[in-house]
Amino acid sequence: MSVFNLYSHYYNLLYRNKEYAAETSYILDLIHEETQGAESITELGCGTGGHAVHFAEKGFTVNGFDLSQTMIDEAEKKKKSLPESVADRLKFQVGDIRNLVSFPESDIILSLFHVMSYQIANQDLINTFKTVKTGLKPDGIFIFDFWYGPGVLSDKPQFRMKRFEDEAVGIIRFTEPNLVPDENVVDVNFTLLITDKSNGKTSEINELHRMRYLFLPELNFLLKACGLEVRKSYHWMTKEKPTVETWYCCLIAGHAAHD
Ligand SMILES: C[S@@+](CC[C@H](N)C(=O)[O-])C[C@H]1O[C@@H](n2cnc3c(N)ncnc32)[C@H](O)[C@@H]1O
Repeated sequence: MSVFNLYSHYYNLLYRNKEYAAETSYILDLIHEETQGAESITELGCGTGGHAVHFAEKGFTVNGFDLSQTMIDEAEKKKKSLPESVADRLKFQVGDIRNLVSFPESDIILSLFHVMSYQIANQDLINTFKTVKTGLKPDGIFIFDFWYGPGVLSDKPQFRMKRFEDEAVGIIRFTEPNLVPDENVVDVNFTLLITDKSNGKTSEINELHRMRYLFLPELNFLLKACGLEVRKSYHWMTKEKPTVETWYCCLIAGHAAHD
């Protein structure tokens, strides 16, 4: 899987307006519904640490893993800008969530902003859920979001163009999705046209992100096969049940009662 290479250099600018603080509050609320006194988080696919930083500010220790070295480098940069007491609670490492070995058990395992939809094959999902099974304390909670199949099929992904800018660069991003229904996958082709403001030169980056849309029955099945069980599923950022209009679904799971 070789995504988030060149794209990741511009990740913080592309997602500058993403509401990491509000999302962290939402996840905290979900955590408090299920368990009290949680202190430790393992984050699978932590990216540049957008959520991790907010959780550390709330007093959690966060152990973040990501496949992309560039994303981890950016997370480390963010960490350096934090007060020492917050930074001390953060650890970022390169790692593939499908085969993480020997990391400390935690109260909470999170995987946010569609990381699970990057796990394309059933075996990728199973391996990731096995990671969760071994890394979650007995009363621990696993929360992740994903592209919800019914919503993706009823409101099919569309071509999009968006502009971004900071003091150094201007970026035009084209998003060209191609639905592959036989595989429950959307091939998302990103093209970035990046203009360097210091010399006016424009360069181009192309990156293909394969995204799997998932259905609750298959997630129930795969989680159960790994000794986990679904507790709740919500339309992202709400406490509403997902509907055919739901694109982003949030799922809360724990160890299966009879494992
Ligand atoms: C859309 S980004 C989300 C990053 C971060 N969670 C956020 O909210 O900004 C998806 C991330 O998942 C990571 N990822 C995808 N598959 C992975 C895997 N098998 N192991 C580790 N990280 C993975 C990518 O490298 C990327 O950083």
